[in-house]
Amino acid sequence: MPRVLIVWHSATGGAKALVEAILEGANDPSIEGVEVVSLPAPEAAVDDVMAADGYLLVTPENFGYMSGALKDFFDRTYYPCLEHTRGRPFGLAVRAGGDGTGAVAAVTPLTTGLGWKEVAPPVIAAGDLTEAHLAAARDLGATLAAGLAIGLY
Ligand SMILES: Cc1cc2nc3c(=O)[nH]c(=O)nc-3n(C[C@H](O)[C@H](O)[C@H](O)COP(=O)(O)O)c2cc1C
Repeated sequence: MPRVLIVWHSATGGAKALVEAILEGANDPSIEGVEVVSLPAPEAAVDDVMAADGYLLVTPENFGYMSGALKDFFDRTYYPCLEHTRGRPFGLAVRAGGDGTGAVAAVTPLTTGLGWKEVAPPVIAAGDLTEAHLAAARDLGATLAAGLAIGLY
């Protein structure tokens, strides 16, 4: 069964709200035959990345970059996974007080280097969290999971 791996970090719950919305979308009852695994970034290891078929990354923007925990996840997994996960689909969601573009710019070279294919534009929840942000996060989760379910990627 195809597996979606959600790798996330949230220090104070801001990005966690996006994770929950993504989980809701990916676990939509209309999507059958996909396993969804959600791991805090410090717990996500090389084996988890290898065993998944698609990825959803969720981070706050901290100091104009991805969170340190997500950076550490890439530090530990990038090279071991480099030639083994090419072409797999992914999506990114960012929670930010400002515009969130620094976190997107930080993640993009790594996902590009890995050869992952982005299934939708990044969800950037900037400023106050809105229902539109949560709806976009639900859509992102559903898009990746549904695409894997039907063999689109
Ligand atoms: C140490 C720190 C640095 C931050 N740096 C940025 C930043 O560079 N740009 C930005 O848009 N928001 C920044 N923020 C705001 C966070 O992105 C925002 O509060 C977010 O909701 C935190 O998510 P979390 O609760 O999931 O950790 C920063 C927050 C903290 C605590």
